[in-house]
Amino acid sequence: MTILVTGAAGFIGMHVADRLMGQGHAVVGIDNLNDYYPVALKRARLDLLRERHGRLFTFHELDFADMGAVQAALTDQVIEAIVHLGAQAGVRYSLLNPHAYVRSNLAGHVNMLELARDRHVRHLVYASSSSVYGGNESLPFRVEDRVDHPVSLYAATKRADELMSETYAHLFRIPMTGLRFFTVYGPWGRPDMAMWIFTSKILAGEPIPVFNHGRMQRDFTYIDDIVEGIIGCLDHPPADDGALKAGGSRAPHRLYNIGNNRPEELMHLIAVLEEAIGRKAQLDFQPMQPGDVHATYADISAIARDIGFSASTAIEIGVPRFVQWYRRYNDLD
Ligand SMILES: NC(=O)c1ccc[n+]([C@@H]2O[C@H](COP(=O)([O-])OP(=O)(O)OC[C@H]3O[C@@H](n4cnc5c(N)ncnc54)[C@H](O)[C@@H]3O)[C@@H](O)[C@H]2O)c1
Repeated sequence: MTILVTGAAGFIGMHVADRLMGQGHAVVGIDNLNDYYPVALKRARLDLLRERHGRLFTFHELDFADMGAVQAALTDQVIEAIVHLGAQAGVRYSLLNPHAYVRSNLAGHVNMLELARDRHVRHLVYASSSSVYGGNESLPFRVEDRVDHPVSLYAATKRADELMSETYAHLFRIPMTGLRFFTVYGPWGRPDMAMWIFTSKILAGEPIPVFNHGRMQRDFTYIDDIVEGIIGCLDHPPADDGALKAGGSRAPHRLYNIGNNRPEELMHLIAVLEEAIGRKAQLDFQPMQPGDVHATYADISAIARDIGFSASTAIEIGVPRFVQWYRRYNDLD
């Protein structure tokens, strides 16, 4: 099969492309290599994909919010399925640069829906986020819960993506799966996320910012578990049979949480990182950040039932793997 992977130079996109090509699929990757975080990391991810997979990998540097550019690059390209992972990510940055989210996450998402419609793809799997649950207090978060009160523009754009997808699944019967990811981490991860920031600061002997005075819980999900879940979903498109789907649709569209189903105290994560790094952290306690949420905790029963997904990697296993990769990538070994 030939699969379009958007955000192929990104953290999750690179791992998904790697696994798909490892299974023998051809991947067409697109990414605009924007400088939200260092472009060198995005280029290094692409180099790895090219080295490992040679001609199975085709890459186009383009902005998928520009439909003309998408069409020009993909005119003669067969596309049988789409894994849409490209987006402007990050909760806090959406308070600083809202238009980046509107462009990539709203206009860009509609463009991918249009492409799916035009190519009659077998399945479009796209990234949503646990942030759609906003300030919901009922834990764990269930896909049936109301998600009408996002606390950041990032979350609002992700919820809008789900709603626009529902419309396209209804009107054009395109099989789609939206995945609400819960704090993903692992090798080749993102420099704007806590795991990376804490690791770099602990190694440098600098204080780490601990928001809400450490009273935070996150459902950390190891990258290999996420990749397994994405590919498991991709291989099982929802049927267009009128039956009720996870998330409440009767169109061929379902929504899943994909997390570890095990919230970790922030202070426990720090202890596991200290152990993996072999150094104590200096803690800089700070108040809660605007747009942030106190706890995330995924109810994964729907994806477990339908796809057989189970997240098997505890942070005690995943964190040392991240730290080991981080040292190697930054020439610290
Ligand atoms: N990593 C997480 O913990 C997490 C949690 C919840 C949701 N998500 C979602 O999962 C997806 C993948 O996240 P990630 O962690 O790999 O992020 P990432 O930032 O590493 O990857 C996203 C990629 O998309 C590209 N991109 C952004 N806008 C683009 C545009 N207009 N045109 C072309 N390329 C564009 C970026 O250059 C980047 O390489 C995103 O949709 C994100 O919102 C991630």
